[in-house]
Amino acid sequence: MIISASTDYRAAAQRKLPPFLFHYADGGAYAEHTLRRNVADLSDIELRQRVLKNMSELDLSTELFGEKMSMPVGLAPVGLTGMFARRGEVQAAKAAAAKGIPFTLSTVSVCPIEEVAPAIDRPMWFQLYVLKDRGFMKNALERAKAAGCSTLVFTVDMPVPGARYRDAHSGMSGPNATLRRMLQAMTHPQWAWDVGLMGKPHDLGNISAYRGNPTGLADYIGWLGANFDPSISWKDLEWIRDFWDGPMVIKGILDPEDARDAVTFGADGIIVSNHGGRQLDGVLSSARALPAIADAVKGELKILADSGIRTGLDVVRMLALGADTVLLGRAFLYALAAAGGAGVSNLLDLIEKEMRVAMVLTGAKSIAEITPDLLVKER
Ligand SMILES: Cc1cc2nc3c(=O)[nH]c(=O)nc-3n(C[C@H](O)[C@H](O)[C@H](O)COP(=O)(O)O)c2cc1C
Repeated sequence: MIISASTDYRAAAQRKLPPFLFHYADGGAYAEHTLRRNVADLSDIELRQRVLKNMSELDLSTELFGEKMSMPVGLAPVGLTGMFARRGEVQAAKAAAAKGIPFTLSTVSVCPIEEVAPAIDRPMWFQLYVLKDRGFMKNALERAKAAGCSTLVFTVDMPVPGARYRDAHSGMSGPNATLRRMLQAMTHPQWAWDVGLMGKPHDLGNISAYRGNPTGLADYIGWLGANFDPSISWKDLEWIRDFWDGPMVIKGILDPEDARDAVTFGADGIIVSNHGGRQLDGVLSSARALPAIADAVKGELKILADSGIRTGLDVVRMLALGADTVLLGRAFLYALAAAGGAGVSNLLDLIEKEMRVAMVLTGAKSIAEITPDLLVKER
């Protein structure tokens, strides 16, 4: 059954990847309730069909923080993207730039800032985690600035690691993980050659550059685990606000009160997100959290949203719920794993086509016309 391009790419990614990587991408926290709700709640959103409105000319373009975007979609930060395709961050960033949309490099990317930023002809966004090692944070910000990154995405929903039990079962972590990963690579020869061998080095590029020695996959969980900082509060973010003169977006907002605090703090934007259901299972899906947040802060800062978006129709739904722009996580990762940068380009083209169909049949000629008015109200 074909449901969407990303569903097909997910199946193709599962065939190609060693299981530890597929499940690292595909899985979420605890029983994965929120992970499922992200997708299900979004597909439950019903739109009003409108007809005979001369929809021959559509404008999908938009602007965010002074940057032109061909459509209101960006690529979310995804750690270890370079394990899913050869130098995966570079391939995904090139596909995004060619489409005219932003790519966000994760703190824990395989390819470092200095490898990805010069490979594309538009400014990259950079994502930073709150980490105990403030020296690393400062170093990463300086390097992001030097590489011309435009927007800082500051992820705040990971003061502690989420419990992702699939990782222990799949060999990503747990007993004999290294051996299990090697065995899985041997039974997935295409990946083993293309990414495992030709895609080296496989360290965490941004962290290795700071530490001065390679930080491998085995160090990933350990280094992050030792560096999460549950003591963080809004006050601790002030030095970053002073240090970073570009737009700063707070990622991981799910509550209207936190959204108000982001306005008080002076953030340029928020990302309504539950980290793709990877942190606290049982929190609201982004689709359900978004309308109340939009009521609380719309117009005072930019509202971005992610978690559960798989199609162009989902993009239109999120915009109708109150987002200005959305980010894709797993949707692009599956396409990248299945077919490299060409897969991401194809996915973005399909997302655009699906958006066009949704806009024509809801009577929205431009992004500004995608408002809550498109939603079927409770009867
Ligand atoms: C494999 C994987 C790794 C991720 N790594 C990061 C990360 O390094 N930093 C971050 O802020 N969010 C990270 N996220 C969360 C994404 O940025 C995004 O919020 C999430 O994928 C959105 O949900 P979706 O995958 O359902 O679209 C990761 C998500 C996945 C699936």
